Amino acid sequence: MDRQETIEFLMDHYENPRNKGPLEDADISLTGGNPGCADMISMQARFGKDGKIEEVHWDGEGCTISSAAASYVTEITQGLTADEIEKLSFEDLIEQLGRELVMTRPTCATLALGTLKKGVHEYAMHKRAQD
Ligand code: FES
Repeated sequence: MDRQETIEFLMDHYENPRNKGPLEDADISLTGGNPGCADMISMQARFGKDGKIEEVHWDGEGCTISSAAASYVTEITQGLTADEIEKLSFEDLIEQLGRELVMTRPTCATLALGTLKKGVHEYAMHKRAQD
């Protein structure tokens, strides 16, 4: 993507957020924020019987980059297992969002994924303890 396409891609996710709003029967529900701003992004996910994410939602108020990133993250994590989500790399996400535009605000770009990873980690630990 060139710079213009990257701006359009981010603005599209910001203005038409995917999977935004509360999720029923969520296995994971965690809110994250960054020091230095009042933005709050919450991530919710529900796993299917096959251990893959059946549905993932985000909610809250964030800056343009954190909101667009949250919307994008709900698209790329659909259908992944907890292990696969824990292995997702922040560097890859920054690359996919458009490094040139988001690298000045890496904490905004990675807030949603970081929050989801933390939620997934806690869920997986809890599940292992039960099995
Ligand atoms: Fe707060 Fe971007 S400025 S998440």
